[in-house]
Amino acid sequence: MRKIAVIGAGQMGSGIAQTVAQHGLHVMVSDIDLAHAEAGKAGIEKALTKLVGRGKIEADEAEAVLSRITPVADYAPMADADLIIEAATEREEIKQSIFESVGKVLSESAIMASNTSSIPITRMANYSPDAERFIGLHFFNPVPVMGLIEVIPGLATAQDTTERTTAFAEMLGKQVVLSQDEPGFVVNRILLPMINEAVFVLGQSTAGIVDIDKGCRLGLNHPMGPLELADFVGLDTCLDIINVLYRTTRDTKYRPAPLLVKYVEAGWLGRKTGRGFYDYSGDAPVATR
Ligand code: CAA
Repeated sequence: MRKIAVIGAGQMGSGIAQTVAQHGLHVMVSDIDLAHAEAGKAGIEKALTKLVGRGKIEADEAEAVLSRITPVADYAPMADADLIIEAATEREEIKQSIFESVGKVLSESAIMASNTSSIPITRMANYSPDAERFIGLHFFNPVPVMGLIEVIPGLATAQDTTERTTAFAEMLGKQVVLSQDEPGFVVNRILLPMINEAVFVLGQSTAGIVDIDKGCRLGLNHPMGPLELADFVGLDTCLDIINVLYRTTRDTKYRPAPLLVKYVEAGWLGRKTGRGFYDYSGDAPVATR
């Protein structure tokens, strides 16, 4: 695979594009318009400048990485891409419209992958022109740092598609976990109930935010506590995923914590809005409960 396209230039799409370019491949990035795609590239430039400042990479290497990233206004330039990775908002109708549109320009050998964290791959494959070339490719945030990618073949995904996609993921220096197409795949199926339970613990005043996070950081050796991590992932994304688990399995153990729903309704979505379980308006995050 030599030419990659990423659709969606937010936190995940930018991280994916950066990682791909850091591994020597050319990557096109699109979003709702060219300005959003360019803003994604500007964010990558900032991340690379930080790495240069810390002496992690050379300035000319950062420049070379940036030169391999091309923001594009629409899907037409993706006609010669070998792989497109969709990393748009976690809403099925948005992803459907993307696959239907980009499917019209892609070559007959291109693989279409979705970075969805919870929507069934088998169902989304129907939105593409060829379900055999459709697959789940689930990255973790922050993409350049995290060592794992989940590869999720749908029911109709061809073995060749799974093999080529796995080889691509390993070429990015990541380890691969192959998951069946079940709700939440492997990691989110385990992570989201933990985050949700932490919000129940908070809602029942068993402990405050700082102690819940401290407990998991020190007691489990996790790099972040579950509430810090929820803010990092985005509380709306956490709620979307736990709701998918709840709706698809109809198992009440996945019912969302009422306090999580309230925070999302308040627009307190975590780091991206400046407030979630922590307030990010000052120099250091401050717990809000
Ligand atoms: N590009 C390349 N490297 C980067 C980078 C970037 N954009 N951002 C950070 N790094 C590097 C830093 O240079 C640093 O490298 P060294 O260790 O070699 O010095 C390293 O990453 C750690 O960065 P920081 O020192 O800035 O920060 P930290 O030590 O506090 O770690 C963290 C931050 C990596 C986020 C850590 O807290 C962590 O691992 N947290 C848990 C993250 C996690 O669980 N992610 C999964 C979320 S779930 C998900 O993504 C799936 C889903 O569908 C919801």
